[in-house]
Amino acid sequence: MPFPIKAVRACYPALNDGYAYLDGAAGTQTPRSVIEAISDAYRGGIGNVGGAFPASHRSDAIVAACRAAVADLVGGDPRGVILGPNMTTLTYRLSQALAGPGDEVVVSRLDHDANVRPWTQTGATVRWAEVDPVTGELPVEQYASLVNERTRVVAVTAASNIIGTRPDVAAIAEIAHRAGALTYVDGVHATAHGPVDMRALGADFYATSAYKWSGPHVGAVVADPALLETLRPDKLASSPDTVPERFETGTAAFADLEGVTAAVDHLAAMVPGAGNRRERLLTSMAAAEEHELELFGVLVEGLETLPGVTVWGKPARRTATAYFTVAGRTPREVAEHLARQRVNVWNGHNYAWELTGAMGIRDTGGAVRAGLVPYNDRSDVDRLLEGIAKLA
Ligand SMILES: Cc1ncc(COP(=O)(O)O)c(C=O)c1O
Repeated sequence: MPFPIKAVRACYPALNDGYAYLDGAAGTQTPRSVIEAISDAYRGGIGNVGGAFPASHRSDAIVAACRAAVADLVGGDPRGVILGPNMTTLTYRLSQALAGPGDEVVVSRLDHDANVRPWTQTGATVRWAEVDPVTGELPVEQYASLVNERTRVVAVTAASNIIGTRPDVAAIAEIAHRAGALTYVDGVHATAHGPVDMRALGADFYATSAYKWSGPHVGAVVADPALLETLRPDKLASSPDTVPERFETGTAAFADLEGVTAAVDHLAAMVPGAGNRRERLLTSMAAAEEHELELFGVLVEGLETLPGVTVWGKPARRTATAYFTVAGRTPREVAEHLARQRVNVWNGHNYAWELTGAMGIRDTGGAVRAGLVPYNDRSDVDRLLEGIAKLA
């Protein structure tokens, strides 16, 4: 069945402002159902959790529903869903509980800095997995010599946030697990672009952020609750010592958590499907991925035929995320020109600090990123290509 792009776009009020939103890799727009779920939560009255009165019970229910929704989205266990303000904050917290001096950690130059620096700053010995700066691939073979019996964590991304590379995480995880190491998989970019099965990926920890997939600014890390039971993060003496609450600091953004659940429900309903929410998510996200990749073929082919345009990276398996430069123009100038044409793109290193360093463009302003998400359509791609053509 073709992806019902018109119906999907109609869910997003912000898409009516005349702009082509190709900045989804930095954060998506939100559908009406999410906006309404958040305001309904406030309208209905919420309290802090664990109280004796109904408004508090409503927040208890919101948190439980949110854990169940995120677990459905990534194929995890709701009892192991840690919620927090964003992936970076949660990763710093987990990294400190997981590794320290005497341990080894493996990080990759493909990763967003949020899955690099929290590990390199633990005091553990750091080993680097190198990326091929031309293809944008992360060769798996190197992991055999990077991992040993002292390796505590292998941190790797499920997809690059600038060039979209989907490395073979399952094969990397197998090497890590054989050595007794844990995997910490950054799914912040990947989750928006297709079905996720964290167990099939071999992810002991899978991190994601709802604002990349139509939800509010909330992050989550999902793990086996039995594994979480073995970890002791720093925490207040007075806060719950249960799992996953032990990993959550302070008071949650309860209304936003209601929005996260609504976002998962929205993703599950993009394409009419049967079965439980997990099954509908798999169907819907597979259709969204196909839709994105079809448009992406047009986008990349179009960019490559324009004079002076260089598209960075050519990985075999990728998300619909393009990173390109235009000869004679800085990435910022290109983004400003496109903004005048009402086309939103991002420019810079986009926190892919190591990768843009390996490609040799970090200090020259990086490149321009145009990323597709499920609500993008052919007119968004055409407007980007027309905009760039006017520059060339
Ligand atoms: C791949 C990837 N990892 C991590 C992050 C950081 O996520 P957060 O903003 O939730 O801390 C981002 C944000 O752009 C990202 O794209």
